Amino acid sequence: MRNNVATRDGATMNWTTIVDLLDSPIFGKSPLGAFLRVNEAFLQRLPLRARNSGLLRPYGEALHAVVGVRRNRTFNFGTLFMRNRPQLELALRLIDREEKVSSFTIAVLACSIGAEVYSIFWTLCSRRPKIKFTVNAVDISEEAIEFARNGVYSLAGSKFTGENIFSRLSKQEMDELFQAEAGKMRVHRRIRNNINWSTGDAADPKLAIQLGPQDMVFADNFLCHMNPAEAGRCLRNIVRLVRPDGYLFVSGVDLDVRSKVAHDLSLVPVKEMIDEIHEGDISLRKDWPFRYWGLEPLNKRRPDWQMRYCSVFRVVGGHSANVLTEKARVVE
Ligand SMILES: C[S@@+](CC[C@H](N)C(=O)[O-])C[C@H]1O[C@@H](n2cnc3c(N)ncnc32)[C@H](O)[C@@H]1O
Repeated sequence: MRNNVATRDGATMNWTTIVDLLDSPIFGKSPLGAFLRVNEAFLQRLPLRARNSGLLRPYGEALHAVVGVRRNRTFNFGTLFMRNRPQLELALRLIDREEKVSSFTIAVLACSIGAEVYSIFWTLCSRRPKIKFTVNAVDISEEAIEFARNGVYSLAGSKFTGENIFSRLSKQEMDELFQAEAGKMRVHRRIRNNINWSTGDAADPKLAIQLGPQDMVFADNFLCHMNPAEAGRCLRNIVRLVRPDGYLFVSGVDLDVRSKVAHDLSLVPVKEMIDEIHEGDISLRKDWPFRYWGLEPLNKRRPDWQMRYCSVFRVVGGHSANVLTEKARVVE
């Protein structure tokens, strides 16, 4: 969306100002909010395919641009086990391409109450048992980290989570990840004990030194809750955590913010499984265009589509904040 629009008297007005005006309550209600709700009620009745195609797509894009300018971005702890399986599949492929790897260090930023961390750690360890994975899990909320460290999830949901936190797990996966207790599921001790939990701010320049260079960093589903300028600054800091030639996984972020930072820092898009990962978390896709975190349908007609929709990047030298210590990599 262009930033400024011309008015009749030749002056310019900022889009944010216009959206603010339309959001100002009349009789306690936001006219823009009401307009968006009517649109949502209508568009939700259409199948996802119809919503994403033809004339409705540009209409959806315009709605999403307006939604993105509203000042209602806010954080929550929402998370799911095995939220995006293709993302994990690609992580395995990239690890397999490393030469003679015996150990691998991963940071999971904004890990919330731990579902994403346990999903990553358990998948990688069970599929590549010969590699020693070190996982550093970080969230800005001490409460979330305490919850994650305990690893106990109520089947009925809690103040942190809906009961759907398990909805993407099979019965077999539930058994392998948890031990069942009355009304709760507890992550097996052998999985819990192998994760380094800490509170920290992903935007803090000292984080890179605190954690040391990471072979792979996951930064999912939290940058979208920041305003675009703040998200851009935070993402630039996150890139510094990745060791040269390591990988950054970043989804749940405004696409313009991600592609600008990727472009500016010459991050190399991993062009595999772009479609699969894009569609891999249905909760993001189905919320477009009504929520600011909603993920637009992938559009291969765009000349920049690979950079725009790619969520995994190789970080080629120069950004790491750490003086690299040569990692001992021994033959398996
Ligand atoms: C929606 S949850 C994301 C959970 C998980 N990454 C996932 O994809 O399922 C957002 C989390 O971001 C955390 N967060 C927000 N700002 C942060 C920051 N600057 N640094 C680290 N964590 C942050 C919040 O505390 C919250 O737990």
